[in-house]
Amino acid sequence: MKKILALLFLTVVPVTGLAAGGAACGMVQCDAVDIDLGDEESLQNGARIFVNFCLSCHSAAYMRYNRMGQDLGISDELVEENLLFAADKVGDLMKAVMPADDAKVWFGTAPPDLTLTARSRSPEWIYTYLRSFYRDETSFSGWNNAVFEHVAMPHVLYEWQGEQRALFRFEKSTVTVEQDDGAKVDKEIETKVFDGFEISKAGTMTEARYDAAIRDLTNFMVYLAEPAKLVRYRIGIFVLLFLFILFVAAYLMKKEYWKDVH
Ligand code: HEC
Repeated sequence: MKKILALLFLTVVPVTGLAAGGAACGMVQCDAVDIDLGDEESLQNGARIFVNFCLSCHSAAYMRYNRMGQDLGISDELVEENLLFAADKVGDLMKAVMPADDAKVWFGTAPPDLTLTARSRSPEWIYTYLRSFYRDETSFSGWNNAVFEHVAMPHVLYEWQGEQRALFRFEKSTVTVEQDDGAKVDKEIETKVFDGFEISKAGTMTEARYDAAIRDLTNFMVYLAEPAKLVRYRIGIFVLLFLFILFVAAYLMKKEYWKDVH
């Protein structure tokens, strides 16, 4: 009985997705991010940030405002009042405010549609990317990014995060090269290695609060890339609950049947 209970416990305990970090994200390592599609408050906050700060340039053109509202527990009225800056009707697709042609002229490249980015990149990639902008006077926008070098996107959330500077160190190493006459000589080369960030101007948020905001935004983008996952997730909980009740009923019935045998 104990074994069965333990097994049941393992199947019922929800497996939350703490996606693994550690893979390479450009110059840095991807950070792990706690994706939880059951966290409605986080998804709503992510949606708010996305609509306010990202839709001006990017679209999420496979998603309609009212579908998002229904999925995230936001009424059509609230969507209309608080989230509808870039469109007229709640049934509209989430299109960018800026026409793609203008954006291309301004940034040199059109901001890509973000509906599926959580799948084409990864949640960890997005989470790390949005926390890795740093000041770079040599770039056109004044910003660079350790995950996406020479990115054309400016750091739109810098007021929250503050400004970071990237620290680099130069590592010397020797390589053996073969000259034209066949002679081998050692050459010393220097490679530029990323060595972390330094906050050069504080933002309005602490690091922990900024990270939490970006986690919500990433969580929302994971939902955006696969809305059906949210529905499956909710159905899954009911299925587990149903199985649990069935198990209890079956166990009680077994006890009842075997009572007379013992
Ligand atoms: C001012 C316009 C602008 C705003 C606002 C903006 N972006 Fe961007 N973004 C860009 C441009 C331009 C690119 C393309 C960069 C490139 O290819 O060099 C880009 C690229 C990206 C990428 C990389 C996509 C890929 O797969 O290559 C992600 C992710 C992204 N943006 C997320 C966001 C999020 C999230 C927000 C809101 C917080 C946001 N962006 C707001 C202009 C913008």
